[in-house]
Amino acid sequence: MKLWGGRFTKETDQLVHNFNASIGFDQRFYRQDIRGSIAHVTMLSRQGILTEEEKDIIVEGLNSILKDIEDGTLEFGNEYEDIHSFVEAHLIERVGDTGKKLHTGRSRNDQVALDMKLYTRDEVVAMDGLLKELLETLEQVMEENLHTYMPGFTHLQKAQPITLAHHMGAYFEMFKRDRQRLSDIYVRMNRCPLGSGALAGTTYPLDRELTASLLGFDGPTLNSMDGVSDRDYLIEFLSAMSTIMMHLSRFSEETILWNSNEYQFVEMDDTYSTGSSIMPQKKNPDIAELVRGKTGRVYGALMSLLTTMKGIPLAYNKDMQEDKELVFDAIDTVKGCITLLNGMIKTMTFRKDRMEESAKNGFTNATDAADYLVNHGVPFRDAHGIVGQLVLLCIEKKIALDDLPLEEYQKISPVFQEDIYEAISMKTCVEKRNTIGAPGAEAMSQVIRENQAYLKEKNVWES
Ligand code: ARG
Repeated sequence: MKLWGGRFTKETDQLVHNFNASIGFDQRFYRQDIRGSIAHVTMLSRQGILTEEEKDIIVEGLNSILKDIEDGTLEFGNEYEDIHSFVEAHLIERVGDTGKKLHTGRSRNDQVALDMKLYTRDEVVAMDGLLKELLETLEQVMEENLHTYMPGFTHLQKAQPITLAHHMGAYFEMFKRDRQRLSDIYVRMNRCPLGSGALAGTTYPLDRELTASLLGFDGPTLNSMDGVSDRDYLIEFLSAMSTIMMHLSRFSEETILWNSNEYQFVEMDDTYSTGSSIMPQKKNPDIAELVRGKTGRVYGALMSLLTTMKGIPLAYNKDMQEDKELVFDAIDTVKGCITLLNGMIKTMTFRKDRMEESAKNGFTNATDAADYLVNHGVPFRDAHGIVGQLVLLCIEKKIALDDLPLEEYQKISPVFQEDIYEAISMKTCVEKRNTIGAPGAEAMSQVIRENQAYLKEKNVWES
């Protein structure tokens, strides 16, 4: 059944129908479509546009459709153009002529704008919940590894010693910002387009404040042309999801490196690894690789929608139907990736011994040796040169700065004394870095306390 056809004399070409139809994917928001319709008729009856009785009949019909879809007794047929036609057709079939009044004062343009917003809003909240779970996992790893020393890298070269807690803490900050972005989007998008009509509002005395509040919005959108054609919130959401994927991908890349034979900083659990069909020894980090790989797909969705929107004149145009598959796919991808990565972290083993060993063997304490000289009155630039020579010597001797005899130190600079070993020990190097944000356990403990308080905070939609 079609919602239009009166002015047509011929049937739609089958290929055109197939090309035009969105039921294959917009069935995903049947719940939101029905919820929006119930709010709409509730408002229509309060405004005297429908009678109380007509409203009850329609609401009952819509609820029975909802129930049958959920039970699996009502299937989405391909003969319908979209979810809106599907629901309306079934309503009319079930309740007769009264059902034909549902669409009074409404267009599919404001209807689809509403459905997509309701759906996306729920997904923003769901994604935030998954990010929060991931943060809880990271927080746990941080709490347990305040003193797990490891090398920190720049240019993928060992740079200075840090702790595993500190390294995980960097990702904690990233995902925290990702959650903040989701909250921002929620607040900005939370205006109800219903009542915008096709583009120019309607002549009925609709109460847009009422439908907005029935549907949990902060109020109605303030321009009906914008109301039906705004897809900014989807672009913002895709952008936020792209950033989430970028973070997940960086984490994945590091885990892949850490899981390699060369690093052995972590070992993936068997339940989160896969094997090779030919090489019996292999245990591959496919999950992390897939997360890294799927990042491109989410970026692609963002570029795609930006491009779709750039040339569309006001107000609604069918191009906008393209938003759905992109956003749905991105949502599924990102939610899947967060969940899997969280599971992977929870199950993997951190090889603390390997991390500490690695930090010791990469001259990560060279800056601290220079700082030692500075503390004894040597200008930093000279200290840098002196320690550079010591490092060269150690490389020749294949030893660490910690193992170089004091005489050798003193040959290059008499300033060095026995306490140099204490000054460049891993413990000193890390634990003395205690300005806020640094890896020292004291500074990290304070950050962890702040994180714990942050994790208890309510989100914008909870207050
Ligand atoms: N399936 C359409 C979409 O997703 C629904 C709106 C159709 N409106 C219209 N005037 N044809 O955008």
